[in-house]
Amino acid sequence: MAPRCWRWWPWSSWTRTRLPPSRSIQNFGQHFSTQEQTPQICVVGSGPAGFYTAQHLLKHHSRAHVDIYEKQLVPFGLVRFGVAPDHPEVKNVINTFTQTARSDRCAFYGNVEVGRDVTVQELRDAYHAVVLSYGAEDHQALDIPGEELPGVFSARAFVGWYNGLPENRELAPDLSCDTAVILGQGNVALDVARILLTPPDHLEKTDITEAALGALRQSRVKTVWIVGRRGPLQVAFTIKELREMIQLPGTRPMLDPVDFLGLQDRIKEAARPRKRLMELLLRTATEKPGVEEAARRASASRAWGLRFFRSPQQVLPSPDGWRVAGIRLAVTRLEGIGEATRAVPTGDVEDLPCGLVLSSVGYKSRPIDPRVPFDPKLGVIPNMEGRVVDVPGLYCSGWVKRGPTGVITTTMTDSFLTGQILLQDLRAGHLPSGPRPGSVAIKALLDSRGVWPVSFSDWEKLDAEEVSRGQALGKPREKLLDPQEMLQLLGH
Ligand SMILES: Cc1cc2nc3c(=O)[nH]c(=O)nc-3n(C[C@H](O)[C@H](O)[C@H](O)COP(=O)(O)OP(=O)(O)OC[C@H]3O[C@@H](n4cnc5c(N)ncnc54)[C@H](O)[C@@H]3O)c2cc1C
Ligand SMILES: NC(=O)c1ccc[n+]([C@@H]2O[C@H](COP(=O)([O-])OP(=O)(O)OC[C@H]3O[C@@H](n4cnc5c(N)ncnc54)[C@H](OP(=O)(O)O)[C@@H]3O)[C@@H](O)[C@H]2O)c1
Repeated sequence: MAPRCWRWWPWSSWTRTRLPPSRSIQNFGQHFSTQEQTPQICVVGSGPAGFYTAQHLLKHHSRAHVDIYEKQLVPFGLVRFGVAPDHPEVKNVINTFTQTARSDRCAFYGNVEVGRDVTVQELRDAYHAVVLSYGAEDHQALDIPGEELPGVFSARAFVGWYNGLPENRELAPDLSCDTAVILGQGNVALDVARILLTPPDHLEKTDITEAALGALRQSRVKTVWIVGRRGPLQVAFTIKELREMIQLPGTRPMLDPVDFLGLQDRIKEAARPRKRLMELLLRTATEKPGVEEAARRASASRAWGLRFFRSPQQVLPSPDGWRVAGIRLAVTRLEGIGEATRAVPTGDVEDLPCGLVLSSVGYKSRPIDPRVPFDPKLGVIPNMEGRVVDVPGLYCSGWVKRGPTGVITTTMTDSFLTGQILLQDLRAGHLPSGPRPGSVAIKALLDSRGVWPVSFSDWEKLDAEEVSRGQALGKPREKLLDPQEMLQLLGH
């Protein structure tokens, strides 16, 4: 293992020789010696962006040391708290992340919220470079009246609930209604629709939380409408996820052939993935199913449908005003062509009765530190290929760099690019030379603030506990939901 700088660089002398951070980073350019030493790099966030950035840095610099700071007690971001429980194969990336975390040159510090427990500036002082990979933790608000009514949830919170995100463990959505409306037509909307409609027996062997499974067993939701403000050509979901919906046991699709009139010709020029997606939608909406499929649909007790050209205008309250009773949708038409196609209201409205509204119109990043540039409109950290604009030594990757779209492989490519750019800067001497204390300085700060970081081996203990609790239930794991309980299990 490469020696860590701090072993031969006493804390007191580091404190004395420390230069004002941003200026020192610029001035250090001439010395070009970090390359031969151990570059201390820290990554904020342990989702795919954090882990793939770390992986790239460790692989392409034989001495680099990477510390990953994570606000949750547990690693892996949306791979644990976003990816649907019935998609276990997607979570195999955790094996690669685990290999990275077990490297001698990598350390994980969970239970550390950057911006609250430690500032980005403090990290910049302690490391040669800092990469912000903290994802998109908020949801995009609808900004319509009634959004705050009981029975209205963000898809983000609903997903967090069934996936065991501690902050959503008490969401307790009321599933006693007949109809649910999901606003937005992306893959998250389809995940949520599928989880609502899948026969609970089919979820029993997944890592869905027991609380969510119990609520879904009691659910009376029979119909789910997935509402888009634009048309079939503009849906944001992809073909694999649509196919899963069409084949979902015990359910039938409700697609209005009128929505697809004239599309046959228009999809001819579309790029291949969209063309195939549209062909599947068209076939499902307009072709008579075969005998077997017709029988399956006829016996289905649950249904899902796509509603197009409808934009959310108001959540309608029940007569007593206590909860949601429906949603008023503005009927829209399209203006513009190609990518620029926008939905504009026609002036007509439609009221859709429902007892549950799930808003799935996108996630949103938030600024975590006032000294880090942030573009509130785009919801990203302004950057050039991952270099944070005007802040030398600060980088970003993943959803906080690009915005909240893209699958894990997109995030991987993007994070590798940030890693590459960082190493390029390091090799060009654009990062501070001279040793940096890395985690030693940060651990001392955290200790003085009463913060107790969780290591990767701590996580492995929690992981073993989850797997063992899951085994008793015939599941791959039963997630721990309560941070206090997790800390107790770790002897804290
Ligand atoms: C519901 C859902 C399902 C999805 N399903 C799939 C799928 O099936 N297949 C697929 O390929 N892609 C899927 N995706 C997309 C995929 O999850 C993203 O591409 C990827 O997770 C983005 O990675 P990230 O690291 O940028 O963000 P995240 O995964 O969100 O990771 C960010 C990490 O930063 C941490 N963090 C946040 N703030 C701080 C802070 N202040 N201090 C320290 N740490 C912090 C968070 O806790 C989190 O661990 C899904 C996305 C969603 C929302
Ligand atoms: N299985 C998987 O691979 C999987 C699963 C889940 C998520 N993901 C990925 O994760 C990323 C995020 O998914 P997502 O579904 O959250 O986002 P998304 O793909 O961007 O979809 C958002 C949807 O919300 C709509 N919308 C946005 N603002 C709206 C508004 N104000 N009013 C009405 N509708 C609005 C969008 O319509 P417009 O197009 O009109 O804006 C779009 O239909 C995507 O890249 C997705 O592919 C992948």
